[in-house]
Amino acid sequence: METFNTDIFDQFNRTWGLLCAGTEEDHNAMTISWGALGTLWGRPAATVYVRPSRLTYDYMENNDYFTIGFFDGSYKRVLGEIYGTLSGRDTDKDGTSGLTPVASEYGVYYKEATVTLVCRKMFSQPMDKAEMADFAKDFYKDAAPHKMYIGEVIDIIR
Ligand SMILES: Cc1cc2nc3c(=O)[nH]c(=O)nc-3n(C[C@H](O)[C@H](O)[C@H](O)COP(=O)(O)O)c2cc1C
Repeated sequence: METFNTDIFDQFNRTWGLLCAGTEEDHNAMTISWGALGTLWGRPAATVYVRPSRLTYDYMENNDYFTIGFFDGSYKRVLGEIYGTLSGRDTDKDGTSGLTPVASEYGVYYKEATVTLVCRKMFSQPMDKAEMADFAKDFYKDAAPHKMYIGEVIDIIR
């Protein structure tokens, strides 16, 4: 597998990622800025956090694989204003953005991404509000907590 070296605190929080699940014919992608990379059960792991209200949540639930694409700065607007603001429920985000979805053995990634992590779900669990620090509970005054998905990173595509 290729290596992937990055400033991990910047990678999600400042650069953002594009989370995608589903098939070539039926997939959905959304922008994420919360995430983690590390090791779990001895395997390279990527963690993402998805609110149940997102359409992408349904795709994360119904598929065994997901991809996380990272892009150069020229795509920030596409990530912010299209994939991070509009919902696949009422918009053809790929058609609007001009990004090119590419089908792979394990799902869909985007041709324009500089690097894509291909992940196989190892674990998922809704975050329990009772276990959160007080400041974090404020994120969930009116909505259900995010669900965390931890995937084994099985491929790195450039
Ligand atoms: C910069 C940025 C980061 C985001 N990070 C997350 C995230 O980590 N988790 C999440 O559930 N939503 C996140 N969102 C919100 C979703 O991307 C947004 O609600 C999107 O429109 C959902 O699309 P969907 O309904 O097609 O899934 C983020 C949005 C932006 C603009």
